[in-house]
Amino acid sequence: MTTGHPELVAAIASEIGRHGPITFARFMELALYHPQFGYYMRPSDPGTERIGWDGDFYTSSDVHPILGQAMAKQAAQVDALLGYPDPFTIVEMGPGKGLLAKHLLSHCQLMSKSLAQRLRYVLIECSPAMRALQQEQLRPWLRHSGPVSWLEDISSLAPGSITGLMFSNELTDAFPVHRVEKVGHGLKEIFVEVRDGRFVERLQEVSTPEIKDYFRGLHIDLPEGYRTEINLRALVWMRQVAASMNRGVVITIDYGHSAEDLYGPQRSKGTLLCYRSQMASEDPFVRVGLQDMTAHVDFTTLATAGAEAGLSVTGFTNQMSFLMGLGVDEMIAQLTPETPEFRAALHLLTPEGMGRTFKILVQHKGLEAPTLDGLIFKPFFGSALSRHAAA
Ligand SMILES: C[S@@+](CC[C@H](N)C(=O)[O-])C[C@H]1O[C@@H](n2cnc3c(N)ncnc32)[C@H](O)[C@@H]1O
Repeated sequence: MTTGHPELVAAIASEIGRHGPITFARFMELALYHPQFGYYMRPSDPGTERIGWDGDFYTSSDVHPILGQAMAKQAAQVDALLGYPDPFTIVEMGPGKGLLAKHLLSHCQLMSKSLAQRLRYVLIECSPAMRALQQEQLRPWLRHSGPVSWLEDISSLAPGSITGLMFSNELTDAFPVHRVEKVGHGLKEIFVEVRDGRFVERLQEVSTPEIKDYFRGLHIDLPEGYRTEINLRALVWMRQVAASMNRGVVITIDYGHSAEDLYGPQRSKGTLLCYRSQMASEDPFVRVGLQDMTAHVDFTTLATAGAEAGLSVTGFTNQMSFLMGLGVDEMIAQLTPETPEFRAALHLLTPEGMGRTFKILVQHKGLEAPTLDGLIFKPFFGSALSRHAAA
């Protein structure tokens, strides 16, 4: 039975009624980002939150400030490599509750007066409700004509306008994805229709040739019955990031894999998951608009799209190696062992926590291939992101 936010369910059903079956990507877009009723777009119900220990899911920034502290150290190194520009701009895309921004800005202030003075911090957030939460977190920086500002969409950044660091944590996995299934020798796309008052799947011809091109570019021929997701929106976004960068570094943190791993035999049902009250479910047609939906990121295709748009790959690593390279072991050594804070910090680092699932793609533009502390440790072979590794 379809359950969910009543007005949202009605709005999606009405669109299907008017236009016929919609792609799963369109369904996910409406469920998460319908301007009035979408999961991320509505203010949270009183006494509840989306992101956090008491929310539907938590992110690294809820666990401990060390990711923000490490990002500040990495930003300071990029600042030095760029020759201390004024302004040095940090663009955070998809900032969630604004905790990572708070941790990063606080640490920049502690670390370097010069950087704090030259810093301009732009948050790109599509949801008015999330922007309000971010403003709450960042109140100390909003008092005077402070360094912090907001944009609703990355397309508002002028081409070549950013000298500095552009980064995101768990943004790309929240973009709407197309879903496909291999039927016989052909690839079909999952559409959504209404039957007996319920949202149900319907397999149709793919809605865009980009889907078949995607796998052709990867030299991947999925086996019969294989189901998976394709994040075309992430590629558009990556090109927008590349276009707005003048000189600097791009850091994309998310759970994901190389294409070879993501589209390998062990993930034959795809990676789409929905989260409500910290519980994962595979059913996107319940709690519509009341649960988060995510799919793992294909870092190979993301890196290729970036390279085609002018962003060179600096490196690819996991969160554990990134944090270790930025001296997180020293930060943790200052904590009292076995306290909740100590255990939280370790959770970000350890393979069984968030250390290995989360991957980090680093790219640069307008710089000689930079040596960055976050990339000192190398958990993968150099060819991990090669499109031909998947052949
Ligand atoms: C999972 S949350 C990110 C969590 C956060 N970065 C953290 O570290 O806790 C995804 C965020 O991206 C925002 N978002 C999604 N699509 C976006 C887009 N196209 N442009 C800007 N923000 C977007 C959502 O509203 C939400 O704030």
